[in-house]
Amino acid sequence: MTSIYEKLKYLLRPETVAVIGAAREPHKIGHQVLKNLIEGGFSRNKIFPINPHAESILGLKCYPSVKNVPQPVDMAVIVVPARIVPRVLEDCVEKGVKAVAVISSGFKEIGKAEEEKKLVEIARKGGIRLLGPNIVGICDTVRSMNASFCQELPEKGDIAFITQSGALGIALIGWTKLKHIGLSDLVSIGNKADVDEVDLIEFFGEDPYTKVITLYLEGISRGREFYAIAKKVSKKKPIIILKAGKAERTISAIKSHTGSLAGSDVAYDAVFKQAGVIRAPTFPDLFDWAIAFSKLPLPSGENVVILTNGGGAGVMATDEAEIRGIKLMDIPPDLADKIREYMPPFGSVYNPIDLTGMATKDWYRGSLEVLLEDPRVHAVLVIYCHTAQTEPRDIGDAILEAIKSIGKSKPVVASFIGGEECHKECERLTAEGVPCYESPERAVVALSALYNYWRFLKHKETYPVALDVDKERAYEIIRRAVEEGRKALTAYESAMVAKAYGIPVPEQALAKSEEEAVNVAEKIGYPLVLSIESPHILHKTEVGGVKVGLNSAEEVAKAYNEIMESVAKRAPQAEIRGVVVRKMIPEGREVIIGMHRDPAIGPLLMFGSGGILVELLKDVSFRVSPLSIEDVYEMIKETKAYKMLKGFRGMPEADIEKVVDVILRTAKLAEDIPEILDIDINPVFVFERGKGCLAADVKVVLK
Ligand code: COA
Repeated sequence: MTSIYEKLKYLLRPETVAVIGAAREPHKIGHQVLKNLIEGGFSRNKIFPINPHAESILGLKCYPSVKNVPQPVDMAVIVVPARIVPRVLEDCVEKGVKAVAVISSGFKEIGKAEEEKKLVEIARKGGIRLLGPNIVGICDTVRSMNASFCQELPEKGDIAFITQSGALGIALIGWTKLKHIGLSDLVSIGNKADVDEVDLIEFFGEDPYTKVITLYLEGISRGREFYAIAKKVSKKKPIIILKAGKAERTISAIKSHTGSLAGSDVAYDAVFKQAGVIRAPTFPDLFDWAIAFSKLPLPSGENVVILTNGGGAGVMATDEAEIRGIKLMDIPPDLADKIREYMPPFGSVYNPIDLTGMATKDWYRGSLEVLLEDPRVHAVLVIYCHTAQTEPRDIGDAILEAIKSIGKSKPVVASFIGGEECHKECERLTAEGVPCYESPERAVVALSALYNYWRFLKHKETYPVALDVDKERAYEIIRRAVEEGRKALTAYESAMVAKAYGIPVPEQALAKSEEEAVNVAEKIGYPLVLSIESPHILHKTEVGGVKVGLNSAEEVAKAYNEIMESVAKRAPQAEIRGVVVRKMIPEGREVIIGMHRDPAIGPLLMFGSGGILVELLKDVSFRVSPLSIEDVYEMIKETKAYKMLKGFRGMPEADIEKVVDVILRTAKLAEDIPEILDIDINPVFVFERGKGCLAADVKVVLK
């Protein structure tokens, strides 16, 4: 099978390009695309303008149809009005064109989804990959191909930028030029009718000219595939994403806690985290980090050292490092002694190392060399505040010379704080391979992006070996409810589904008569709870359907009859299936475990502080299925509930391992039975280590 790289190569790295709709008048987009291709530097004899009304345009021979081009055409840019696009696309199929980029608007974005579908059908039938429609085009600096109506090509570089917004793409070219950010490609994906971000991530993952993949996205339509591909690619190259727009979430008919807390954005966050995709909140962050990845080696350990000539700037960097989870190394005495040679007696060898305002070029160079040479140091942040003592250029030289003399095996980032000269020096240093930022915090944040990625690469993944579950039994209960047209299972049915999946629930049984209730009670033992079982009664207590604290056969018999009488009076229409006799359980530490099926991403698992205050506390975290055991531990550790489970104020540690097991089983249940929309297990009472946990209340909501 042809790999995606081989297929998309014709779209992104074509040998020959046709412009269908190469207009004669300079103000028209088709004309601009042709002009851009020529001026961008793509070989003139490999460009074919198509226009039935012209002989030649911009000095190139024009063809009435792509079918008349005497050479093979790898890629066609289509710039004719929407209504003509299907026709010219058919011509492309006949010609054997391999890929098309449809700039034309007027499809799904204005409600013409059928017309767009037709384009995909034609393209698929003809074995063509289609980018767009509704795009600005492709800028590829590898082949010097500006197949777009962007004003010019970006600077050459190794960062690929995929954008869902065309206008933003155009605007950002100017911005990246201003900042000297080099791109391998800028690809506008528009309506994503065929080629989408998943295909492009896979392509750039293979592309030897791309080191970092960046994206601006508003939505991800193939969530499961995105997760799988992004996870695969991010093990090779960093992926940084700016995801805007909080897509509407589906709200289940019977709102579960998990459903109401799991907005789509939460799902995206979970996917990004698990796939190793770094999420940037703004464009400056996105490109700050992309530059760091493009220019620097990854660290080989956690020890970071800050070198500064200004105490205040060092403190700011330290604060940010703490927020970002960056570990500032304790400087060992032998290393401190070596550094003392490059500072006045009142300098500080604590981390941040303060060379003081008296710092000279030689001190910066000497101390940085010491740090770069020491294998215990894994990354360095050099901060410079412009003083009358030194010139920014000299300190820049000191950094570059130190790196040159010791070698570039560790990440070094810098922050130069000051006016115009510092700004210029920052640009020079960045261009020379030392990403330099105008504030210490930004430098720390960029470094933390490297660290997050490095940690992801180290992150192990162990998947649970086959969990013993009774799928048949669970499916039977769900199938019956679906056949009855129900949107949720009863509490008893939910508990039985959970039980079939090895999720511990209190001992319970359904009794259909007073006698049966007493027999079951004697078997289970006391104290007990009795509750009405009916698919039509949601709030059991309100109809007198619950009795708690029952301690004898007599009490059970009495409770059974009272429940039946009360329900018959207060909910006469409800279908009654019996009474659930359930063992009362000791209370433990309360957590919630939940699942919400995101329409694009699939099962999203939730863990957090449980009980009645779930939605108020919002102490929850999410991960998407399939999840590794490490994912589950990380998910638990992100919450305050974890601290409670670990034990505080003399409380012993709770059975966290059992909680992990229940989360994995809940995920399996969701994977196995797609009819389930939401699962809420709240509260789960967690007992001391080794004593397990019990799902006190399970709610299963169906699609
Ligand atoms: N094959 C090739 N060329 C053809 C053709 C055919 N079958 N039929 C017509 N053409 C030519 C036209 O003759 C014209 O050339 P001319 O001006 O020399 O006569 C050229 O194609 C363009 O057609 P025209 O009807 O003038 O359209 P236009 O240039 O006004 O608009 C688009 C075409 C695609 C630019 C416009 O429909 C559009 O979609 N604009 C929005 C683009 C956009 O914003 N994209 C998203 C960015 S985020």
